[in-house]
Amino acid sequence: MKIHNFSSGPAILPQSVLNEAAEGVKNLNGEGLSVLEISHRSKAFVAILEEAVELVYELLNIPRDTYEVLFLTGGASSQFFMAPMNLLAEDQMAGYLDTGAWSAKAIKEAKAFGETTVVASSKEDNYNHIPTGYDIPAGLRYLHVTSNNTIFGTQMHSWPETDAPLVADMSSDIFSRELPIDKFGLIYAGAQKNMGPAGTTLVIVRKDLLGQTNRHIPTMLDYQTHIAKNSSFNTPPVFPIYVSMLTMRWIKEQGGVKAMEKINAEKAQLLYDEIDNNPRFKGTVKNQESRSLMNVTFVPTMEEDKQKFFAACEAAGISTINGHRSVGGFRASIYNAMPKESVELLVKVMREF
Ligand SMILES: Cc1ncc(COP(=O)(O)O)c(C=O)c1O
Repeated sequence: MKIHNFSSGPAILPQSVLNEAAEGVKNLNGEGLSVLEISHRSKAFVAILEEAVELVYELLNIPRDTYEVLFLTGGASSQFFMAPMNLLAEDQMAGYLDTGAWSAKAIKEAKAFGETTVVASSKEDNYNHIPTGYDIPAGLRYLHVTSNNTIFGTQMHSWPETDAPLVADMSSDIFSRELPIDKFGLIYAGAQKNMGPAGTTLVIVRKDLLGQTNRHIPTMLDYQTHIAKNSSFNTPPVFPIYVSMLTMRWIKEQGGVKAMEKINAEKAQLLYDEIDNNPRFKGTVKNQESRSLMNVTFVPTMEEDKQKFFAACEAAGISTINGHRSVGGFRASIYNAMPKESVELLVKVMREF
């Protein structure tokens, strides 16, 4: 039976990418060696890394002279401290939008490096919406946002109006839509949801923001180290970068992020329509404008339905539909690689239920 993978992360990858990656593990480019056993300084791997970087610039339409693209390790969680360590001087103030558990972790880490202010928070409502109508103080070094809140199923569909550069955790919606790139000073994303396997973190940083904190930054934690060495100061995570490159090639073949955005909206609409019209389910997000196109969270209207619905999903080959423990119920993660047919199947199972 075909299994439809609705996992929040590590998450579904395109089948063609998995096939190519499997081939690359056995015999990269037909040259007789595995991608796992070649030097990161070899011609073959340098070409993979260069193509990966190039695809990021291309897919997100990033100006090449202003921004650097890096593939680092340590997960998105390391960016919670690397971003303020590299950008925020002790006497500067950074703003944070508190929209979920990952935002809260980012705020906690930033406090060690400079002043922080939480410009708005939806914590009191268990993060069931993206705050609006808040004031952003002038003079912020940056404003940190989490573009998509994987756990709570909320997503920012407009960007805050501020002169400060945005620093954005896009771990769960990178490459899912077009971006006004010049609003961003730094974008980071763990690979394992919309880009590739766990093990590498994409960082896109505006160069002119670096080197101004006047603090000692350990070599490995300094973005400038990795810029100077093209993400190969030390051995980079070769396999996650390889698979990320294959996924970005796939995105390009689909028509780029613009095409992804369109199909993602269609997929999410199918599911939200069913949630809104089916009396056995209800959405957990307070308003339409906050709903995520990547992680669709919903609960049964009758608690006793929960196990029954899991059983119905399992019988249909729908895997990992459980919600995060802090929200409960169900979460369907429908990242770029999720085929529309799988979403249609889930809708069918809900309707028959
Ligand atoms: C929005 C967001 N930020 C950060 C993280 C943490 O990423 P990592 O596990 O790569 O540190 C996650 C992981 O699920 C996430 O969804």
